[in-house]
Amino acid sequence: MKLSRILSNRNGVSRRQANFLIASGRVAVNGAICREPATEVDRFSSVRVDDETIQTGENRLYLMLNKPPGFLSATSDDVHPTVMELIAPDLRPDLHIAGRLDRSSTGLLILTSDGRWSRQLTEPRIKIPKVYRVSTAYPIAPDTPERFAAGIWFEFEQLTTSPAHLERLSPCNARMTIYEGRYHQVKRMFHAVGNRVTALHRERMGNIRLDETLAPGDYRPLTADEINLIPD
Ligand code: URA
Repeated sequence: MKLSRILSNRNGVSRRQANFLIASGRVAVNGAICREPATEVDRFSSVRVDDETIQTGENRLYLMLNKPPGFLSATSDDVHPTVMELIAPDLRPDLHIAGRLDRSSTGLLILTSDGRWSRQLTEPRIKIPKVYRVSTAYPIAPDTPERFAAGIWFEFEQLTTSPAHLERLSPCNARMTIYEGRYHQVKRMFHAVGNRVTALHRERMGNIRLDETLAPGDYRPLTADEINLIPD
């Protein structure tokens, strides 16, 4: 929201008065005087007029969870336990999931309160790599990497997946990199070539790697360096 609008949302302050306060250097955003009424200010920023706090600025939260199998990537569910139940109750209300994993899938799951940041991570157009370890029911056919690189037609969405990279590690194990996060994408791609995924573990999103010291079900805050790995 624009700074002038935040001020004029207060009872008794007109848009004109707000602009005047801002232009006179009496308004600080995150502790620094801001003289531009059109400045976009998000809910994470503090706003003060002289010594009066107008907006405190919500905490930004960024967590990495080592998702165990059996937990739904959802905030609540009547049947299955959800990943939110693994997070301390006081942190839950502000968080959303940046890139879901299926209930059976494991590994890196990122939760944040910062919608703009998480869109950068998940928006298919931005093409952030998501890297998975995959186990399959049948040996991976020699032409599978080529077929994934060419893209797989998804009938339901009427689209061809972006080129994916598949590195075969053993007959039934591979490392796969996709640049989108479509519904059951990895499973459906293997299904399309006559195979079946038996285990799926996310190792990395962009350059944020799962911290291998996190036991399944454990989480930790992202470091500032990890947060900055995702372009703004
Ligand atoms: N692709 C899938 O099929 N499942 C996941 O959990 C993630 C990617």
